[in-house]
Amino acid sequence: MRSPESTVLPSPEICIRIQIYGRDTPACYVSGMIRWKSGALLSAAFMVCAAGSVAAANVVPANPTFAKDILPIFERSCQSCHRPGQMGPFSLLTYDDARPWLRSIRSKVETRYMPPWHLDRTVGEYDPDPSLSDVEIQTIVKWIDNGAPRGDLKDAPPPLQWPADGTWQFGEQPDLIIRSPKIDVPAQAADMYPEPEVASGMTEDRYIKWIQVLPGDTKITHHVLVFSIGVTPAADATSTASRDTDSGADIVSLAALFGRELPTDSAELAAFRAQVAQFAHGGVPTMLTEYARGNDGDIFQSGEGKLLAKDATIRFQIHYHPNGERAVIGDQATIGIKFWPSGYKPKHLIQTRNIQNISGLAIAPGDSNSRSDAYFTLTEPSRIVSFQPHMHYRGKRMTLEAIPPNGSPQLLTDVNRFVWTWQITYPYKNPPAFPKGTVLHVTAYHDNSAANKENPDPSAFVGWGNRTVDEMNIGWVDYYTITEEEYAALQREQPHASNE
Ligand code: HEC
Repeated sequence: MRSPESTVLPSPEICIRIQIYGRDTPACYVSGMIRWKSGALLSAAFMVCAAGSVAAANVVPANPTFAKDILPIFERSCQSCHRPGQMGPFSLLTYDDARPWLRSIRSKVETRYMPPWHLDRTVGEYDPDPSLSDVEIQTIVKWIDNGAPRGDLKDAPPPLQWPADGTWQFGEQPDLIIRSPKIDVPAQAADMYPEPEVASGMTEDRYIKWIQVLPGDTKITHHVLVFSIGVTPAADATSTASRDTDSGADIVSLAALFGRELPTDSAELAAFRAQVAQFAHGGVPTMLTEYARGNDGDIFQSGEGKLLAKDATIRFQIHYHPNGERAVIGDQATIGIKFWPSGYKPKHLIQTRNIQNISGLAIAPGDSNSRSDAYFTLTEPSRIVSFQPHMHYRGKRMTLEAIPPNGSPQLLTDVNRFVWTWQITYPYKNPPAFPKGTVLHVTAYHDNSAANKENPDPSAFVGWGNRTVDEMNIGWVDYYTITEEEYAALQREQPHASNE
């Protein structure tokens, strides 16, 4: 077990990458949560999944009580965040915990503000899916309107065994532990987004079986994203994939980011194109996992995994929200990684793709519905594991659609109530399979009008940038490629898989 703690100073090239993929790069990667269902491990997410599979009642009880009707909902949809040590502002483990918050609970569930899940529930099936059914919402509202009776605790489900904070959740010790440098967070300051990089010390390519983040102080840590940076076979695998949106015109914006004009000399231009290609394929940070909102890691089932390449560098991207009362000195995030055995190569390498349109993002002052489109073509048959939209203050809605070469477009997800403070990954219940040549189409809508309460300046012309006052239009998609035979077999099993 090694614990490298050295900070690697970013090279100029890495700095440019940070500008593009940097601080606002999102990413709840929760596809591991799907897999937790099949694991025998007692982890927070496993509990959520297990509870999530309980069929919801479909009638509102005449006299709902906490013990019988409400606690099961809180266990399934709330406690992953609302318990001591987690990010929810109060606990929902017990009746006494919930009691002072009734009025707020009523309004937050009725408006579907809680649990955070901002998509059109009629499009797509997700697992886990913590959102509440209409009946569950009506049950909570009725319970509160009836005076919130406690009921008989004999009727209550057993309390969930949430794992202790600050421990490795997956039943074994990690092979590799990496700590971020220590960071001081003042009591009162604007939010901080340090992005320290640490050498992994990897001497060979290895595939990740599980990875978990232990944050430092959970009261101030909003999220920790973990990336690996390094030339990876994963990148090789996608190197023939077209980056439809980012080809052509984008070399101009990349030139701007490199701080130069596009070369006019043809040899220089060729060299620059090669540099951009290397940039795009060789060194894109790969998201490994994240800590946020009840997620703290990923575990992969046999045959799946993510790669940590030889000599990879780990980048932490930490969002601190100073707590206003006390400074935290030397806060440190830690990741633990368990690898598949040396030499084992999982059949399915989970790949994370950012489908975005840098040059197509041009939002006019006051425009309440500015649309931009981004495309990515699958060069192999693939299964789509999850989708996560990323925009800033002005983000309003984002959709993901698949356009098979010989089929009609299929809407996979419609995040029609996007809330920029939440970065939620939507994992597909039965990852849809699509043939080679399918175009994944992301449509982003931004609201730059004064009616958008989050909008810091409706008179601004807004384009792509890292600051929250700039914008982005990234659809993050996790997917893995399959063979033509596997695709054909899936078509036989679920003939409507790709044209529902
Ligand atoms: C993914 C994590 C998460 C889940 C799941 C979640 N919450 Fe929350 N909740 C939060 C966070 C973080 C806040 C504070 C920030 C905010 O309001 O957006 C919050 C705020 C709230 C508030 C507002 C508190 C206030 O200040 O008035 C209520 C009420 C609430 N949650 C109830 C619930 C209920 C009920 C559920 C389940 C049906 C639930 N939450 C599920 C994370 C979560």
